[in-house]
Formats: sequence, C-alpha cells, structure tokens
Amino acid sequence: MKNIVILISGRGSNMEAIVRAAIPGARIAAVIANRPDASGLAFASAHGIEAVCLDHKAFADRAAFDEALRQRIDAYAPDVVVLAGFMRVLGEGFVRHYEGRLINIHPSLLPAFPGLHTHRRALESGATVHGATVHFVTAELDSGPVLVQAVVPVLPDDDEAALATRVLQEEHRIYPQALRWIVEGRTRIAGQRVLVQDRARDQAALISPPLDA
Ligand code: GAR
Repeated sequence: MKNIVILISGRGSNMEAIVRAAIPGARIAAVIANRPDASGLAFASAHGIEAVCLDHKAFADRAAFDEALRQRIDAYAPDVVVLAGFMRVLGEGFVRHYEGRLINIHPSLLPAFPGLHTHRRALESGATVHGATVHFVTAELDSGPVLVQAVVPVLPDDDEAALATRVLQEEHRIYPQALRWIVEGRTRIAGQRVLVQDRARDQAALISPPLDA
C-alpha cells in the first residue's frame, strides 16, 4: 500500500477527485492545509481522512513553516506528496527532500504561463488552446518533468471563469490518472521527460479552431 499525503490551500476539488478515484494500492494518509479556512478539509474528514491544518501565518518565516510541514508530512511516511491547489511556494530544501515523489497540478500548458492568473493570461495571449499540467516538482517554480497535460480549446466567447471551468474539468481527470501511474510504479523520470510504461500512443492532433470538414 502506498501512502499519499495531499496538500491543499482552498476548496480542494482536485483532492476530492483523487479521493473519489479510490486508486487501488493507494491510501490517502492525510490532507494538510496551510489555511484554517480551506474548505477541502471538511470533505477530507467527512471521508474518514486525517485532516490537518498547519497555518503558515503561525510561523516566523518560510523556512520555519517548511520544516514544520516536512515533519508533519514525514510522520505519515509518504510515498507520494500531492500538491493540489497548494498556493505556498515551497523552499529548495523542502522540494529536494521529496524529489521524485512530489507532484503538482498547474492550470496551464507549462512551460507557458507559470505563476498566477493563468486563464487570464492565456486569454490575453490570443492562444487558441490552453490546459493543465501535472508535473514532478523541482526547485524552480512551476517547472519539472511533465507527467501529463490536458489541452482544451479557447472558445471565442470565453471569459476567465468559463475557461477555468473547462480546464478544471480536465484537471479532475488527469490528476488521479497521473497518481495512479506513479502508484502502479509505471513512471520513470528521464531528464525533463517522464516515461510512462504501457501508455496508449495517439498521434492525433488537437486543432483549434477545428479545420473545415
Ligand atoms: C486548480 O486549478 C489548480 O490547478 C490550481 O489551483 C486550483 C485549485 O483548485 N493550482 C495552482 O494554481 C498552483 N500553482 P482546487 O483547490 O479546487 O483543487
């Protein structure tokens, strides 16, 4: 059984998708939030998962918070630590400690739009496709070997909220899948790329807007 610890900061819909996926061989050992008002904590406890709040504001600096968080996480002997809408930047020491077993979901097609306000920036850029990325975490913000990406079209009447909803729907599909690959031991990091054993191959292109028939 692989122990999974999930970190959230807010509503935790990605955490929820992972819990609901009930991945064979995975045990969600704890959900930890850095904010007391993170509404996802209630979902976790309602599902019998240990729900912990470690308020970053109670710590003198980033290093002190990172250290307390590391100790708390390590008490669960995690095989994988999942950042699911965790909105605190984690220091280099923390990231290095979990190298190869720390994953994140980011609401853009990385390396495009690291950081905040990804949907607004995608709209402003004029891109006709946008999406989400699940990746292993490295010290550099929103970088690291990519496990999977979902691409959605940007539609002419999209605003930030509509685009965010379309992307989030795909996040809920790709994050449990990526975690499942890891739990099944099917992933191997090769430089910036992640190789997934026995993954279906598809050469079809997504073209947006679609070509004339
Ligand atoms: C998700 O869209 C996730 O990709 C994003 O925050 C949202 C959290 O939603 N994460 C980041 O922006 C991290 N850089 P959720 O709490 O409902 O899962």
